[in-house]
Amino acid sequence: MTLLFHLSDLHFGPKFNSHLSELILQDVRDAKPDLTILSGDFTMRGRVSEYQAAREYIAKLPKPIFTIPGNHDQPLHPRGLPERLVNPWRRYKEFIHGTVDASVQVGDVFVVGVNSNNRIFPGGIWTFAQRKFIEHEFLRAPKNLCKIFVTHHHLEWNGKYRPFGTWFPTAQLNWLARLGVELILNGHTHVPLTLQTPQGMVIAQAGTCMSGRVRHGHGNAYNRIVIKPQALCVQVMGYDSNADRFVQKSENEFPRHASPVTFSPAGAIA
Ligand SMILES: [Fe+2]
Ligand SMILES: [Fe+2]
Repeated sequence: MTLLFHLSDLHFGPKFNSHLSELILQDVRDAKPDLTILSGDFTMRGRVSEYQAAREYIAKLPKPIFTIPGNHDQPLHPRGLPERLVNPWRRYKEFIHGTVDASVQVGDVFVVGVNSNNRIFPGGIWTFAQRKFIEHEFLRAPKNLCKIFVTHHHLEWNGKYRPFGTWFPTAQLNWLARLGVELILNGHTHVPLTLQTPQGMVIAQAGTCMSGRVRHGHGNAYNRIVIKPQALCVQVMGYDSNADRFVQKSENEFPRHASPVTFSPAGAIA
């Protein structure tokens, strides 16, 4: 069994809730997960002061930690705009992690994550080089491990309005299924969402864990994910103001598929 904590959209900066950040820090320390995954938006505007606060917090979290950047992690303030155009990920690499795309093998899982953001367009894009990286990493992963893909932008959305998500999501989901991915983790929408795609993969989208920028009536939340030999269990942990702690709001268990979904050349499920 492998226990994952999935936090997203910390958004150090305006509307950051330091009380919630302390509650979550204690939750992670108490649970001692095999891996804590942070799926982007560490800052609000990519300011150095925000990055410094994010780094200090991350340093307090138990290791190992896996991170990818979000769209808010590129400088988006007047003096930072030149850097955004020339070297948008310098600050992320300096303060959070040395690469924007990464992979790690921990316990029973093999995790691949990529930077889905763009300095000009809304994001949700993987370059050709990133697709080669994703493919290479998942193909070298040991067969018995649960393959997990992490990206900031969402691939599925059933909310009230559709924020910018991953481009051509159905084609991307088909491709990830062919690579044997079982679980996709993302953030960005600030809305917790757990579902199973038509391809049989599970999507666990985390809400914002500690920012006041909550949306659509959803409060602050993070995901606890348990990888069992025969099942994936996604628990949404939401902040309960009466109890003043994060409590389990939902739990969904999905059977793990024994073999990747196969596709005909036309892309339809065989
Ligand atoms: Fe965000
Ligand atoms: Fe975002």
